[in-house]
Amino acid sequence: MEVIIKEDYEEISKLAAQIIAGIVRINPRAVLGLATGGTPVGCYRELVRMHGEEDLDFSQIVTFNLDEYVGIAKDHEQSYYRFMWDNLFSHVNVVPANVHIPDGNAEDLHVACDEYEIEMDEHGGVDIQLLGIGSNGHLAFNEPGSSLGSRTRIKTLTERTRQDNSRFFENIDEVPKYCVTMGIGTIMESGKLLLLANGANKAEAIAAAVEGPITASVPASAIQLHPDVTVIMDRAASSKLTREYHSQPHFLEGEEQ
Ligand code: PGA
Repeated sequence: MEVIIKEDYEEISKLAAQIIAGIVRINPRAVLGLATGGTPVGCYRELVRMHGEEDLDFSQIVTFNLDEYVGIAKDHEQSYYRFMWDNLFSHVNVVPANVHIPDGNAEDLHVACDEYEIEMDEHGGVDIQLLGIGSNGHLAFNEPGSSLGSRTRIKTLTERTRQDNSRFFENIDEVPKYCVTMGIGTIMESGKLLLLANGANKAEAIAAAVEGPITASVPASAIQLHPDVTVIMDRAASSKLTREYHSQPHFLEGEEQ
């Protein structure tokens, strides 16, 4: 696992975008696994800049998002569908048919979850999966106690997650109670994992995920089993780590940043 500690959110975002852009440039048909929430916003902003200023081409890129709320309309301000179009897709040349976001309004959610997995398989799986981490250690919407072998399915959000996400809604009662999320088993099949974290409220979860035992009680600790993981965080999120880590990835060693 490569653990990189940066000074601030902007640095995390730039490095994350640089890693994703590197994959897109090598493989213009890459399958990107994407995440929502406050954390990846800066990374998406940087990818949009690279598209505009550095010809980063998304025309053949395929995307699969991690999760979606159940029961809010696609065009609701807080749907993850809307988030992705507002923050990334509307500003780059991705082909809408290549975008996949779980449908939280599907008539049969169980069938839709199974089909989502099949579609991922049909595209050869995700090449790089961008991830955040919940303050309770959740990975996507896999809350503590989620099976480490789980697949895309319906889950109930914990009170802690609903509380954390209530900052985006008028009040906590507006936050959906259910979601559809890729499973931990699904996420672990990605070619590479790129997990971002910033802020002191993530410090405990990061320490448990990176240095703690692998346990379903901290779903993000499953990343320790993956052969190709990069975790990028700011100093505040790193404050409970005890080992020594780097400030830049191996591929940049010796270079000015
Ligand atoms: P955040 O959420 O980026 O809004 O902090 C991350 C997560 O819940 O996985």
